[in-house]
Amino acid sequence: MKKIIITGGAGFIGSHVVRRFVRNYPEYTIINLDKLTYAGNLANLKDIEDAPNYKFVKGDIVDIDFINQLFETEQPDAIIHLAAESHVDRSITNPLEFVMTNVVGTVNLLNAARNNWKGKYDKTRFYHVSTDEVYGTLGEDGMFTETTAYDPHSPYSASKASSDHFVRAYQDTYGMDTVISNCSNNYGSYHFPEKLIPLAIHNIQQNKPVPVYGKGENIRDWLWVEDHARAIDLIFHKAKSGSTYNIGGHNEWKNIDLIKLLCTILDQKLNRPAGESAKLITFVTDRAGHDLRYAIDATKLKTELGWVPSITFEEGLEKTVDWYLANEAWLNDVTSGHYQDYYKEQYSNR
Ligand code: NAD
Ligand code: DAU
Repeated sequence: MKKIIITGGAGFIGSHVVRRFVRNYPEYTIINLDKLTYAGNLANLKDIEDAPNYKFVKGDIVDIDFINQLFETEQPDAIIHLAAESHVDRSITNPLEFVMTNVVGTVNLLNAARNNWKGKYDKTRFYHVSTDEVYGTLGEDGMFTETTAYDPHSPYSASKASSDHFVRAYQDTYGMDTVISNCSNNYGSYHFPEKLIPLAIHNIQQNKPVPVYGKGENIRDWLWVEDHARAIDLIFHKAKSGSTYNIGGHNEWKNIDLIKLLCTILDQKLNRPAGESAKLITFVTDRAGHDLRYAIDATKLKTELGWVPSITFEEGLEKTVDWYLANEAWLNDVTSGHYQDYYKEQYSNR
């Protein structure tokens, strides 16, 4: 029997992790702790919301009294911590919000765990879900390994790097059992359409311009979100205390090539003449401090825990496009209201 608090479980990756744990471990109790910011959506978990081993708690990880109270009442055995402000562009507009949630929120959770788990570090685990962006940017060659030095450039990646350092400090200083994973760009269902892939699918579908930053030369290493959730499951259960794993898709794409591929897929799915959707591609002002290239070396995860991605990018992208086309109501819901203001603010002056 285990009681696990998963933070950020109503978000994109968190909802896939919650679903996986609720379904695969009926003997565990899964508590989804989420503030339900613009990025959190309980509709992402409709299919498991009535499961007997699942509970949702609305709350803010920045609120220390609330977090302490939650630990007191629930007495969790483990935390899988995904709650974060996650969008680089928003971090450029409002860095402090990223410091509060990503740094202060993480330290609050670490403190609550430390207070409640004294003498029980051998039976408890703090799993921190992080990003490859902490390593900074690559040139044309090379890959990020677990020993690459941290070199964050955006307020988002600086806040995630800081939270990683705090997690390691709690392992080294207090002997708390912690693990960290640093993953590359995820894609898949329930991805909020502020991020490149769902934004492009949505805009192409609506016949709106598809904004490509700079010349579209930046490279990202894309991983299907359900493969990330599977890696988290493995690492949570099998990793040695204090260890770090990189997770990635071995799947590098230049932004412009990826957008062109999406245009081709959508031309076919929407019965448009070949080349029609690509006319929507619009080059806009680049992101400030835009990292050129990310690429993950996930050899450690493969050799130690046997993890490799389960599907190809072409399969995953097709599944993802099909999901968005079949879930128009979800997309319409999350792109109404505040999304329209965000979109205007972010894209009208580019
Ligand atoms: P997301 O923005 O989709 O979801 C974040 C969730 O956290 C939302 O449900 C939101 O309501 C919740 N949240 C935000 N602030 C909170 C607070 N103060 N208290 C409680 N809940 C709060 O993010 P995502 O893309 O699913 O990313 C999840 C985690 O994985 C993040 O830590 C992110 O840094 C990391 N990550 C993401 C990617 C990616 O490609 N999306 C890749 C690697 C790592
Ligand atoms: O690498 C992992 C990271 O991947 C995660 O830690 C972040 O939470 C996640 O948001 C993601 O960060 P990116 O900045 O790489 O993702 P985004 O989808 O915002 O952008 C992907 C690439 O596409 C990047 O080079 C910027 C570019 N882009 C993005 C948007 C939103 C565009 O060209 N146009 C756009 O409109």
